[in-house]
Order: sequence, then C-alpha cells, then structure tokens
Amino acid sequence: MKALVLAGGSGTRLRPFSHSMPKQLIPLANRPILEYVLEDLRGLGVAEAGIIVGRWAAEIRAAIGDGSRFGMRVHYIQQDAPLGLAHCVQVAEPFLGADDFVMYLGDNVLPDGIAEVGMQFQARRPAAQIVVQKVADPHRFGVVEIGRDGAVERLVEKPAHPRSDLAILGVYFFTAAIHRAVASIAPGRRGELEITDAVQWLLASGAAVEASRYDGYWRDIGRPEDVLACNARLLGHLRPAVTGEVDGASRVTGRVVIEAGARIVRSRIEGPAIVGAHTVIEDSRIGPNTSIGRDCVLSHTDLAGSIVQDGASISSVRGLRSSVIGRSAAVRSLDRGSPYHRLAISDHVSLELAG
Ligand code: TTP
Repeated sequence: MKALVLAGGSGTRLRPFSHSMPKQLIPLANRPILEYVLEDLRGLGVAEAGIIVGRWAAEIRAAIGDGSRFGMRVHYIQQDAPLGLAHCVQVAEPFLGADDFVMYLGDNVLPDGIAEVGMQFQARRPAAQIVVQKVADPHRFGVVEIGRDGAVERLVEKPAHPRSDLAILGVYFFTAAIHRAVASIAPGRRGELEITDAVQWLLASGAAVEASRYDGYWRDIGRPEDVLACNARLLGHLRPAVTGEVDGASRVTGRVVIEAGARIVRSRIEGPAIVGAHTVIEDSRIGPNTSIGRDCVLSHTDLAGSIVQDGASISSVRGLRSSVIGRSAAVRSLDRGSPYHRLAISDHVSLELAG
C-alpha cells in the first residue's frame, strides 16, 4: 500500500504562522507535524509515500528529505493551486497507479496510530474506507450519515445543519476505484474538488464504502487553539531526558526534556515541557504544557500552556498563557511604569492584552 500525504493548502485559519511556514511544519513538542504523520504511516507498513506540496515545496523538501529517516521513499508531487482534496488524488494519479493507498492529511495528528483500521482495509479492500469520530461541532467537518445497519448512507462536506455528529477524520483508505470517482465529479460550492463528493459518487455507483469508528486521540490542526491542545497532548508522551545544564538554584519537575546545550538558570520548569537545544532560560517559571524551541532566550518570564518557536526571545513578561510565539519573535515588557504598549506586528497577528 502506498501513501498520499497532503501538505499543500492555504492554511488561512493558521495565519500569521502560515505566512512564513507551511502549517504541516509547525512544531508540536518541538517536532514538525509531518514527522508524526510519516511515523504513523511507517506503522502502517507504508514503504513509498507521495507528498502533495504547494507553495512551500522547498521548505517541506528540506525538512523531510528523501524519507529514509522514516524508513520509506518519499516523492514530492506539486499541486499548482489548492483546488481540493480530490484534486490532490487527481494530480497524484501517475504516482499512485493501480495501487491501494492511504490518503493522510498532513495537518492531522493521531498519536495512538491508525494501524488497526489499515489492517481492516487490507483484509476487506472496500473501494473506500473512511474513519470517523463523534464530535461536538460537526459543521466544521465532513460528516457521514450511517444507517441502522451500520452502512454508510451519505457524506456531506461541512453541513450547515448536520444530520450526524460523526466527523470524517483526515485518513482515508482507497483502492484504485477512487480515480474514476474523482474524474467524474465537479467542484462543489467552495470551488474545490471535494473528496466527500468522490466517496459519495462511489456509494451511488454501488461500490463498497465502509466507515470505522476511531476512539483514539485525533486532532486536525486547523487553528492556533488546535496547535496548543495537540502540543499539550504530545508533550504527555515525551520520555523525560535532561541533557542540557540545570543549575543548583533551578527546579525541574515532571515529564521534562532539556536538550543538549540548553541552560536553565535560577528557574522552575514544570512538566510536561520541552526546552530546545541551546536555549537559555533565566529567572523564569516555565510550564506545564509548554514547548520552547532551540536558540531561544527567556528571562524573568512566567509562561504556561504555550509554544515558543526557534530563535524567539521573551523578557520580563509575567503571566503568558496559551500563546504561540513565532520564530525569532521578540516579546518584552517596557520599563516599569510605562503607561503604554508598543507593538510592531505583521499582518493577521492576533494579540490579546490583559487589562
Ligand atoms: P484544509 O485544512 O481543509 O485546508 P487549508 O490547509 O487550505 O486550510 P484553511 O482552511 O485554514 O485555509 O486542508 C487539509 C489538509 O490538506 C492540509 O494538510 C492541507 C492539504 N490540502 C492540500 O494539500 N491541497 C488542497 O488543495 C487542500 C484544500 C488541502
């Protein structure tokens, strides 16, 4: 079975981060999302993956390489414009050929793995096997309506009035039957070739479409709050390791990774947390549920439930919560007594100041 990983798209809901990086490379517990995706695929026994790339092709290629690190061969497939998930299948057809494949959205994280569903698919080989989970807000997802007998009846993309609370998560298994379906549908109301329409076409043509319930943790990293929630979850899986330096006046508790060359001085780090290589933390209180990238400098700061990306600096800021700080960003307090805030921020930044 081959894999098709979708790492194009526009990532508008993740602005401003998606202005300077593809969302599939946003770090979770200091590793790009795509690495978790490829590791899950390796667990499925995939030896060859095609990654759909858009305008961030060069960055994704640089981060992932030829795939040997993940025990597979990776090919890159250019999608000239984000015209939909079914469009990705269309542009990948020369790579996929007549093979069965798993299509994995590059912004979906399933730390518990999807191997069991993969085995079900390989044993039964329906034309399409989708994976579903009950959600509280189905209008944000493609949803599936399932009949009393458990058969898939209908798929609808982001319905305004959902008739089911079963969301389709971002991993699909297909035989080559999907190619005719994709070639037969027209763009939907969003102007995109929708994979839900292609699967619906298969259903209407009498092909076998099966749905598996998935009860493991699943997150679709569409918005900053998803990034933070998933980061906290993945930090909980870390194997504690302190390779960096922690001075005698500091305290490190819980599940914490301090990478080589990092220095913790007169500070408290409460796990789960990770501090990247060559980062310096002084007179600060960090964690829980916090990732700090490499080459950062934090001083006199109190930070929890947050992500700080590589090269950022934070100085004398107390009470930072649920924040995502981009690469090489600088946040600092003005001198005590200053009555003003002073900002130099770029497009689509979201800033919430206390008081
Ligand atoms: P989405 O999250 O549905 O779309 P998006 O990335 O454009 O984000 P937004 O809605 O915030 O603008 O995409 C799901 C995954 O599929 C994601 O990893 C991007 C990828 N994708 C493609 O590779 N090509 C496409 O044409 C589309 C629509 C998405």
